[in-house]
Amino acid sequence: MLRTTFTELVGVEAPIQMSGMGSVGGPELAAAVSQAGGLGTNTVAGLTPNEVEARVDLIRTQTKKPFALNFLIPVVDTEAVKAAARACRVVDFFWGRPDAELVRIAHAGGALVSWQTGSLEEAVAAEAAGCDFLIAQGIEAGGHIRGQLGVLQLLTEVVEAVKVPVLAAGGIGNARALAGVIAAGAAGARIGTRFLAAEETNAHPDYVKALIAARAEDSVRTNRFHVDCPLCPSTHGVLRSAIERAEALQTETAGDWPGVRPIPRFAGAPPNRSFVGTIAAMACYAGQSVGDVKKVEPAAKIVHELVEGAEAILLGTKSQMSPA
Ligand SMILES: Cc1cc2nc3c(=O)[nH]c(=O)nc-3n(C[C@H](O)[C@H](O)[C@H](O)COP(=O)(O)O)c2cc1C
Repeated sequence: MLRTTFTELVGVEAPIQMSGMGSVGGPELAAAVSQAGGLGTNTVAGLTPNEVEARVDLIRTQTKKPFALNFLIPVVDTEAVKAAARACRVVDFFWGRPDAELVRIAHAGGALVSWQTGSLEEAVAAEAAGCDFLIAQGIEAGGHIRGQLGVLQLLTEVVEAVKVPVLAAGGIGNARALAGVIAAGAAGARIGTRFLAAEETNAHPDYVKALIAARAEDSVRTNRFHVDCPLCPSTHGVLRSAIERAEALQTETAGDWPGVRPIPRFAGAPPNRSFVGTIAAMACYAGQSVGDVKKVEPAAKIVHELVEGAEAILLGTKSQMSPA
């Protein structure tokens, strides 16, 4: 497979990190991506240290390969970070100013540390805080959007400014896009939306159906799904149909996450398998790469399609350059 500074550093075969995606990513999807050679990532924001350990045990029953655990800055418990760092290859952070103390804690536990960033300043700060690799997130992304730039502009600014490997995130869902960001200096890509329709997803089937039906133009950047959202105010990439369906709701409740909490209209919670109610009116996050989500297929097939395709393009077999 395609080797890069990221694959060498982390010890994976494919230059792909699956995005942590809250409860819709799920441990099964993370394990499947890792098992296929990428870096699967599971979000553990809000879990206690014991719950983190249980999550790790669950992933470990499905893969012995490296995986990452993802924390969201407003809800970081340092004891949970310690538990994660003892057990996983990469502790991954998003949504907050890079914090050297958190990086130190994760390193002390034996993990590598990554930080998803949305601006050049944040990327430089993440490297200065001691992170081992960074993610440059463009506004094409699904879910919460940290910055203001498209992925190529941000990526090229960041790779000029830092020495650590940089992954590109946001709207990358096909082999040409993966090859493109690697050609522009990325050590790989962080990919979320494309994996939401994997067989191992924990996204609700109606959400998956809406993703498959959507075109790239149906991903819009909005701030509408802001209710009960710890990362708001912020913008997020979501399906236009979800905004329209939520606007059309006659009640202030879209549904329920049984045993966890009710889901108000415009809640910032993407619907997982156990949600009930009007799923299509919930926060169906999607990046522009939703245009590449065409069917349900195993995560391993997605990893192989992207990596083998990108490799062929980068080796020049599909190059558009004229011979000298
Ligand atoms: C459904 C969904 C949920 C997300 N939840 C998280 C999260 O919990 N933590 C996080 O770091 N990023 C989260 N993200 C953002 C991703 O880290 C990443 O920036 C994004 O998936 C890249 O764009 P793409 O979806 O077009 O591939 C989420 C993205 C999606 C699509």
